Amino acid sequence: MLSREQIQQFNTQGYTRIDDFISEEWLDRLKTQAGKLVDEWVDDSHNHTFSTRDNDRTGNHYFLESGEKICCFFEEDAFDAEGQLVQERSLCINKIGHALHTLDPVFIAFSHQRKLGEIAADLGVQQAQLRQSMYIFKQPRIGGVVNWHQDASFFYTQPQSVITYWFAIEDATLENGCLWVEPGGHKGPLRERFNRDGQTTTMVPLNEQPWPDDKSGLPLEVKAGTLLVFQGLLPHYSAPNHSSKSRQAYTLHVTDGACEYASQNWLQAEKLPPYGFDYP
Ligand code: FE2
Repeated sequence: MLSREQIQQFNTQGYTRIDDFISEEWLDRLKTQAGKLVDEWVDDSHNHTFSTRDNDRTGNHYFLESGEKICCFFEEDAFDAEGQLVQERSLCINKIGHALHTLDPVFIAFSHQRKLGEIAADLGVQQAQLRQSMYIFKQPRIGGVVNWHQDASFFYTQPQSVITYWFAIEDATLENGCLWVEPGGHKGPLRERFNRDGQTTTMVPLNEQPWPDDKSGLPLEVKAGTLLVFQGLLPHYSAPNHSSKSRQAYTLHVTDGACEYASQNWLQAEKLPPYGFDYP
């Protein structure tokens, strides 16, 4: 599925891209289904916001239980001082997570397509396990920042194996908060681990390695339909979206069953087994 150049780019830069990976028809289907899930979501407690600003998800039962459910999270700036939504409800949702790929028929069909399994195999994954999915809205005007991080902090395996599929559902630009990466940064160490002990989570620093910034980072402006694939140690971030356009994306996190999945990771497959791409 991947060309030699794409595999080489993944190995040397930590990421690669496939333009026009998703058809117009699938973009519509995914977008419509995500909208439907938001419309049907009834649990709208104001506590269900999502923030990466301080990595404080401690005691957030709703977050911790979302690993094997379909849950919506509000943008951090979705509410005004009086607790009212600042814009239309559908434009206040930060993301849907984290088991779309095993619970929703449209996302199941999309996430388990053969081409994605071939990409994983091209990148050396022996036994792909789909661990997590997210539909990210990056809403107009209030789309929140996602601080620099490495996905391996959340999906720690030995040896490191997690790879991320990042699908642009809409055009991603500097204006609406496209993804930034640090090319080659996957060769550096893992900086921190997000560990869970019961209902408590802690971000444990592992070293003093500094994070990239706007000078060492590279913005990846991509068209709707583009697939970015990146290695779990690649530092990445996205800026807030102050523009009038959303920047919707879908992500999948895949680990290798041939590697040991840490029991301290926040997301454990307790009810749903981590299926491969051959499911269902
Ligand atoms: Fe990430």
